Amino acid sequence: MGLMGDTVLSLRDARLVLDGNAGPVEILKGITLDVGQGETLGLVGPSGSGKSSLLMLMGGLERATGGQVLALGQDLTTMDEDRLARFRMANMGVVFQSFHLIPTMTALENVAVPLELAGVADAFDRAAAELDAVGLGRRAGHYPAQMSGGEQQRVALARAAVVRPRILLADEPTGNLDGVNGAAIMDLLFGLRDRHGATLVLVTHARELADRCDRVVRLVDGRIADPVPA
Ligand SMILES: Nc1ncnc2c1ncn2[C@@H]1O[C@H](COP(=O)(O)OP(=O)(O)O)[C@@H](O)[C@H]1O
Ligand SMILES: [Mg+2]
Repeated sequence: MGLMGDTVLSLRDARLVLDGNAGPVEILKGITLDVGQGETLGLVGPSGSGKSSLLMLMGGLERATGGQVLALGQDLTTMDEDRLARFRMANMGVVFQSFHLIPTMTALENVAVPLELAGVADAFDRAAAELDAVGLGRRAGHYPAQMSGGEQQRVALARAAVVRPRILLADEPTGNLDGVNGAAIMDLLFGLRDRHGATLVLVTHARELADRCDRVVRLVDGRIADPVPA
């Protein structure tokens, strides 16, 4: 790992307590972590250890109930909803295991959504170029249900990348794909990171993916465990 520049994500004793049926549940128990500009961080750990929850905090999709979460120097824990939504749209791309495409929209429309919300004039031209970049230019008019899982994830990647986010967050993006499609998605994801110099945080179970990260952090029961040996 080379020298990292500015800190892009900075968590200080970040905590997450959610209301469960049997009372409050402590999901994240004080996470302190910095991610540098251009760094790729892998998040690993057993199921239920809090990996997805931590990614949601980093993406401003879930608000920490304690501590601080700074993204690009801005405190996501105190930002009002409108600003947070705009900040996310401008700076974050998120990819989920289950694609999260809008089923009533074509591939092109799905990719154009973030640009349209941002009021970009040539949203559909840019969305088309982004679909081309993931090899799906000819599927622009297809709906998610008409595409394979691998294709849907490529659309989701294009949607995440279309705003040129400084921060890319991916939660087990290959978890629902077979080996060949998973490998293709990972190559696209790392390619995006390289082309745009984005910071990438990747939740993964796969050892070979963790090996491609600059650094790996292991979560156990809502806390960061000992560093994984290189
Ligand atoms: N909305 C929720 N309410 C209560 N508990 C939740 C909620 N979401 C997740 N959890 C719990 O938080 C813990 C961490 O979940 P998660 O972040 O999804 O872990 P991982 O991604 O590592 O599998 C788990 O014990 C899970 O059951
Ligand atoms: Mg998870």
